[in-house]
Amino acid sequence: MKFSRSALGAVVASLLVKGAFATGLHADRDESDCAPPDTIPDLTGADFRNVGVVMFNGFDMVDVYGTLDPFYMLALIEQRLTLYLIAETLDNVTPRGSMNPYNSSFYPEFVVTNTFEDDLDIDLLIVPGGSGVRAPDTSAAEAYLQKMFPKVKVFMTICTGSGLAAKSGVLDGHMATTNKKAWAQMTGWGPDVRWVSPARYVVDGKVWASSGVTSGIDLSFAFIETYFGRERAEYIWSMQEHEPREWDDDPFHTYFGLENTETQPCPWR
Ligand SMILES: *[C@@H]1O[C@H](CO)[C@@H](O)[C@H](O)[C@H]1NC(C)=O
Repeated sequence: MKFSRSALGAVVASLLVKGAFATGLHADRDESDCAPPDTIPDLTGADFRNVGVVMFNGFDMVDVYGTLDPFYMLALIEQRLTLYLIAETLDNVTPRGSMNPYNSSFYPEFVVTNTFEDDLDIDLLIVPGGSGVRAPDTSAAEAYLQKMFPKVKVFMTICTGSGLAAKSGVLDGHMATTNKKAWAQMTGWGPDVRWVSPARYVVDGKVWASSGVTSGIDLSFAFIETYFGRERAEYIWSMQEHEPREWDDDPFHTYFGLENTETQPCPWR
């Protein structure tokens, strides 16, 4: 059997595309035209002691506790870390939000340790998502993000938490991503954010933004790898038996049929 030159070319091209997907690269990303991300904060692991999470009713459990679990392990084997669960009031919060037509009670309650009024010295602030970001009034959380953004060393958003942060304005001018299922609504809340898809997560200076739910776990590992070293990160993900995806390995943008965004970041590391 003889291949014509162009048929052979097509086969080779399709193999190259498959190979690119297998290694998590994107065949259609033009590296010469990429947007350089801001330099990440020049710090070490020891500079990150106090971790805060913004809590509200209707948060997603994995956004919070999945993202925190690698840090929980880090706090056991590496250094002392302190966790602050920060909400508008000290009342317990629950994942129950607006999207509950069956009136399911399928959620535990979670304690809050601090309020937005407290003057906390937070090094790493984590903003989770969940249906609560679509509550009619999110102004208290938005004001808290505006207050804390300039003070924290790294500002992480998980899933639709990027939408909440975008509403507050703190992501303006930064590259970020969000949950691909919620893409249209979340990006609509931040017209001046440089949204990126495909992306498992995007790192742009102090802004570390993840895509949907479990991508927060991968973002935590990227953070630990960056500031505490590859060996430490690999040890923890191996204990958890989890293989983090690379920042640009995003099969879910395809599942939800999203176009590639105009902004495509250059590799951040
Ligand atoms: C859920 O609760 C609301 C308010 O109490 C009620 O109107 C509605 O019928 C309930 N839905 C179901 C599926 O039970």
